Amino acid sequence: MKKLLFQFDTDTHPSVFDTVVGYDGGADHVIGHAGLTPENIASLVEGAIFTRAPKDKKNTAIFVGGSDMEAGQLLFKAVQKCFFPGFQVSVMLDSNGSNTTAAAAVAKLATTHSLQGKNAVVLAGTGPVGQRAAAMLAQEGANVAITARKIERAIAASENIKKRFGVDVTPIEAFDNAARAKATENAHIILATGAAGVELLSLEQWQNNPNLEMIADANATPPLGIGGTDMMDKGELRHGKVIWGAIGFGTLKLALHRACVSKLFEDNKQILDAENIFALAKEMA
Ligand SMILES: NC(=O)c1ccc[n+]([C@@H]2O[C@H](COP(=O)([O-])OP(=O)(O)OC[C@H]3O[C@@H](n4cnc5c(N)ncnc54)[C@H](OP(=O)(O)O)[C@@H]3O)[C@@H](O)[C@H]2O)c1
Repeated sequence: MKKLLFQFDTDTHPSVFDTVVGYDGGADHVIGHAGLTPENIASLVEGAIFTRAPKDKKNTAIFVGGSDMEAGQLLFKAVQKCFFPGFQVSVMLDSNGSNTTAAAAVAKLATTHSLQGKNAVVLAGTGPVGQRAAAMLAQEGANVAITARKIERAIAASENIKKRFGVDVTPIEAFDNAARAKATENAHIILATGAAGVELLSLEQWQNNPNLEMIADANATPPLGIGGTDMMDKGELRHGKVIWGAIGFGTLKLALHRACVSKLFEDNKQILDAENIFALAKEMA
């Protein structure tokens, strides 16, 4: 029986990246649907849960993606609301690679040093990756702050994190690199999760920071998020700080993303979100 992965995306086009990883994770066919909301999802979910016999339902799974974290969370919830005993399929949430990317980055940082009690600043932490990373750092015992160019964005993201994970994250407004340098003065850890191709901090702004122990940067599109680092860095020591570049931890991200897709087809009851994806990342790191 063919393994079918229904890719439910909140954007106007289903993510090509997620389609490719869907196949690489073991799906025989990936079917993308775009522009999905809690209001228009029910008939699609019904199509997935009613069509196969109980023993065969594990061959149908749902992947929720898109660039908006909050929309993804709502869609993920709405999909599960359509399930009832005997009628469900496995489902995973990974808006913009949020859970798998954040989990891989934080798991790699955690292999280097304990995160307990550390000050961590997630630069441009308002996107899907930044929000998930902030929550995972906080759950590992770090004191976490996130920056945004406008304070309203930082507050909204902090509230979304609090609502979903029950952890407190400090919102900071940091419009430019100078403001971000100030925001990271007392940081032991900097995790950059800004949009692709945007430098958030120059080399001069972090290399002499005496508090700083570790940096991870999710951006693999030049210019990198953190100047003076290399996207291939795998725990490299630069100016006395341990550096994880986007490709350096991205190998784990991709392996994790594929492993999660593969797990969806183990049975029809997998609900994969931040907590269990992060737990798997720590096992794999
Ligand atoms: N390494 C991997 O395996 C992997 C996997 C997936 C994604 N990624 C990368 O991870 C990063 C984060 O992904 P994402 O989807 O969460 O990012 P995103 O939503 O595209 O952007 C994150 C934040 O960047 C800020 N930003 C946008 N333009 C900016 C500018 N010109 N100057 C300063 N800040 C700016 C915005 O924050 P405010 O508007 O609130 O300031 C935005 O919320 C991206 O670089 C993505 O390519 C890496």
